[in-house]
Amino acid sequence: MDLNLKDRVALVTGGGAGLGEAIARSLAAENCKLWILDRNAGAAAGVAASIGNGTKSYAIDIGDAAAVTDAFAAIAAQGRIDILVNAAGVLSTGFVADLPVNEWQRVSQVNLAGMLHCIKAALPTMKQQHYGRIINIASISAARGGGSVGNTIYGATKAAVVAMTMGLARELGPEGITVNAISPAIVDTAMTHELLSEDARLKILTRIPLGRMAIPSDISNLAVFMASDRASFITGIAVPVDGGILTT
Ligand SMILES: NC(=O)c1ccc[n+]([C@@H]2O[C@H](COP(=O)([O-])OP(=O)(O)OC[C@H]3O[C@@H](n4cnc5c(N)ncnc54)[C@H](O)[C@@H]3O)[C@@H](O)[C@H]2O)c1
Repeated sequence: MDLNLKDRVALVTGGGAGLGEAIARSLAAENCKLWILDRNAGAAAGVAASIGNGTKSYAIDIGDAAAVTDAFAAIAAQGRIDILVNAAGVLSTGFVADLPVNEWQRVSQVNLAGMLHCIKAALPTMKQQHYGRIINIASISAARGGGSVGNTIYGATKAAVVAMTMGLARELGPEGITVNAISPAIVDTAMTHELLSEDARLKILTRIPLGRMAIPSDISNLAVFMASDRASFITGIAVPVDGGILTT
């Protein structure tokens, strides 16, 4: 299937590692022009260099609204912003009773406020183009209020991402902009490697009907489809990519 993505300009936050990197590579394979945005400057530059083909990087903390506004203005000055993938995120584990009260602030500042900063900063350009694809990386923890590692705060930020995705789809449809979310279950990335013991991994595996953990391409395949014109009548949804875990 030709996805017709050649020369579309895509910005990927969190593109320096994990799912963001995988999505950036998959979009590059469809001949998009890529910007890798990440607070880890070295990682962003490394991914951009390894993709090649004019891929650019920008070191930015998405929690900093003013820095995001400046970065997106500088990028827009060089051309279009067709696709925005919001993959930058931080995890929070542990039980609410044991966590400091500012844990909500720390996590929501990236997962929620950071995402909102990027969307708001992309909108003037997307509206002017009357075209845009926004893809937010949520999590199945949005549907369960966290999960087995007690990540209630994380789940609450991701539930808000799903709500924001629906609301923005309604607001932005008339502007030619679609807004969708992907809700992965646990994926083999740096974020989850640090978190899970072998025992915890095996326990999770028993609950996945398809019998394996997700791999980054499970997520990036869907992101590329959502970014394409083949998905032009799809907006406001959050698609679980979870091997069926939500059915158990
Ligand atoms: N890995 C999983 O199992 C899983 C499951 C569900 C959802 N997710 C979500 O997918 C997204 C990517 O997760 P991942 O596993 O690839 O994580 P990761 O830690 O491997 O990569 C995240 C990237 O985001 C960057 N980042 C973090 N905070 C940032 C900030 N404030 N500004 C700019 N960049 C920032 C990091 O530097 C890193 O390069 C996150 O939103 C995460 O919540 C991951």
